[in-house]
Amino acid sequence: QAPAIILGIETSCDETAAAVVLRDESGRGTIRSNVVRSQLDEHAAFGGVVPELAARAHVTYLDHIIAQACREAGIKLDEVDAIAATAGPGLIGGVLVGLTTAKALAAALGKPLIAVNHLEAHALTARLTDGVQFPYLMLLVSGGHSQFVLVRGVGDYERWGTTIDDALGEAFDKVAKLLSLGHPGGPAVEAIAKSGDPKRFKFPRPLLREARLDFSFSGLKTAVRLQAEALAPLSDQDVADIAASFQASVAEIVAVRAGQALAKFRAELPDATPQLVVAGGVAANQAIGSALRAVCAEAGATLIVPPIALCTDNGAMVAWAGAERFALGVHDGLEFTARPRWPL
Ligand code: KG4
Ligand code: ZN
Repeated sequence: QAPAIILGIETSCDETAAAVVLRDESGRGTIRSNVVRSQLDEHAAFGGVVPELAARAHVTYLDHIIAQACREAGIKLDEVDAIAATAGPGLIGGVLVGLTTAKALAAALGKPLIAVNHLEAHALTARLTDGVQFPYLMLLVSGGHSQFVLVRGVGDYERWGTTIDDALGEAFDKVAKLLSLGHPGGPAVEAIAKSGDPKRFKFPRPLLREARLDFSFSGLKTAVRLQAEALAPLSDQDVADIAASFQASVAEIVAVRAGQALAKFRAELPDATPQLVVAGGVAANQAIGSALRAVCAEAGATLIVPPIALCTDNGAMVAWAGAERFALGVHDGLEFTARPRWPL
C-alpha cells in the first residue's frame, strides 16, 4: 500500500471542520492537522442548532478552515491524494456546503472524491486513534444518534439497535433545557449531577425489559419534566438531584444494553475478542464511561474510548474514513448526491 494523504471535510451539524490525515504503508494513520470551528456561539441564543444558520456559517468559514488545515499539516492543497467529505446523514444545508466544496476541489485539482458516511467516520475512528482491529462493536451516542453497530470491516456494518425516539445526547440537552442549564446540555447536566443524589428519584428505564438492543429516551425525558414541574420552584439541590437521578438512569440503560450487545457479539462471533468502541459526544460522560467499564470488565471485553476531541464531530475522522476507503481503491463520482438520511 502506498502512503496516502487525505483531506477530510465535516459540515453535517454545527462544527465546521477540516483535517489532513496520513495513512502509511502499514495502514497506520497519523493526524497531520485537525481544525474544528464550533458554532456554539451562533446557536446559543436559540437553545439548539438552527439548520439555516449552521449552513450559512459553514459557507463563511469552510474555505479558511481548509486552508488552515493544510497550513498546519505543512502541505499545499495539491499534495493531497484524495478529498473526503461527509455526504450524510446530517443537516442537509451543511452537508451540501461541505460536499460541494469537496467536489469543486476534486474537480479543480484532478483528485478523487470520497463521499463519506458520517456514521462510518465515527465507526472507524478507533482504528486511527487506537489501531483497533476488526471486528468490534461500536456504541455511537451523540446529539443525533444512539446506536449499536457491528463493525466487521470497511464498508461492512450491521446495525444491531438504535433509538426509537430521541438520541441520548438530545435527551441530555432537553433535560438541561428544562432545568435551565443552557446548551449544549450534556456537560452541564454532568457537572451539576456531581453535587446531586442519584437515588433521590427513580426515573423509568424505558424498553429495558425488552430483549431488543434499541433505546428509547423520550418517556424518560417526560418523567423528568413531570418531576421538575411537581417540585417547582426548584432549589439548586432539586436541580442537582434531578440531574444526578436522570444520569444514573441513562447510565444504567446504556450499561445493560451494552452487556446484552456484548453477549450477542460473543454468540455470533465466538472466535473474536469482544471489543466495545464508544463514539459520539456523550462518550465524554464519566458516569456512562464508568458504567461501561464495569460491564466490559464483567463480560471480559475490551473497552476503547478514543480521545474525546475525536469522539465528537471532527475532520480527522472523515479524512481517516476516506483513507481507509482510498486504500481499498474505492472512490465516488462527482455526481454523488448528499443524503440527509443514510443508515449504515
Ligand atoms: O458527537 P457530538 O459532538 O455532536 C453530534 O451530535 O454529532 O455530540 C454532542 C452531544 C450533545 O447532545 C451533548 O449534550 C452531548 O453530546 N454531550 C454530553 C457530554 N458532552 C457532550 N452528554 C453527556 N455528558 C457529557 N459530558
Ligand atoms: Zn457525529
